[in-house]
Amino acid sequence: MSMFEESMKEKVKEIEKIISSFLPEETGYQKIVVEAMNYSILAGGKRLRPMLMNETYRLFGGRGDEIQPFMAAIEMIHTYSLVHDDLPAMDNDEYRRGRKTTHVVYGEANAVLAGDALLNYAFETALKAFEISEDLEPEKINAMREISVARALKVLAEKAGIYGMIGGQTADIAAEEKTSVTIEELTFIHKYKTAALVEASMMIGAILAGASLNEVRKIERCAYNVGLAFQIQDDILDVTGNQEELGKPIGSDEKNHKQTYVTLKGLEEARMEVERLSQEAMSILEGFSGDSSFLCELIHSLIYRTK
Ligand code: IPE
Ligand code: IPE
Ligand code: MG
Ligand code: MG
Ligand code: MG
Repeated sequence: MSMFEESMKEKVKEIEKIISSFLPEETGYQKIVVEAMNYSILAGGKRLRPMLMNETYRLFGGRGDEIQPFMAAIEMIHTYSLVHDDLPAMDNDEYRRGRKTTHVVYGEANAVLAGDALLNYAFETALKAFEISEDLEPEKINAMREISVARALKVLAEKAGIYGMIGGQTADIAAEEKTSVTIEELTFIHKYKTAALVEASMMIGAILAGASLNEVRKIERCAYNVGLAFQIQDDILDVTGNQEELGKPIGSDEKNHKQTYVTLKGLEEARMEVERLSQEAMSILEGFSGDSSFLCELIHSLIYRTK
């Protein structure tokens, strides 16, 4: 295992510890929905969004703990988007993260509720960042931190909503009915359904670390590139990957008559686009004075990912 792979493994372990520490207890009359939430979020996954968030936070000199509830929150929102994406009414898929999907195990009603609950609990969790920053001194620094937490919450809310992930998923479903989509429409879908949560991850890291508005804007652009490349690669793997490694079925897009980068441009051009977008993201990161070497390696590794 390379040094990069080893350090990735270590970081994923840390992230999982943080996520687990914020999960609700499986008790009371709501036990079943909490079980379904924990089933989906503890199934594994790459933990890419919390990792990008934490690494961006470090890049801009962040050293506190208020990032932790946001790391858990973004993974909750991402997981909810997957639980709902897999529902029979949407992509109708039976495997996710190497397990049966939530609706297969807990039934559709509980899967809908578990998704709703993960979304709501994400905000309950992120709001805990206020309590963490209250412990800091002196008062002026506290006030600044609280403003950052509020700004981070705004980004989280917007990028998950109709001008973010939900907007993209809506356009994705609408496009199934069309005989053809343009590259502009497809870029809209990818930007919102996938890049939006990647943008939220990196922007929140930057905001909580006290980055300037201009820096946050650059980070948003960088994350847009990463997110778009990530979804194009996801579309490629839907054709060329294997279920064992991916932990989810291949051929889902074809089954649902989805137009993707691969159907529109072909595999070769899709691959080149992943590379181009990733290079652009890395060059934005290299423009900052902090150490972006791990983040760049991470983005580079995503070009060649097989899961
Ligand atoms: C899957 O996301 C959905 C997309 C946006 C392509 P990931 O590929 O990050 O899924 P996990 O978290 O690793 O399971
Ligand atoms: C999903 O895109 C994006 C979100 C869940 C927001 P896909 O439908 O391609 O994701 P997979 O392939 O099922 O993971
Ligand atoms: Mg989908
Ligand atoms: Mg899907
Ligand atoms: Mg896919």
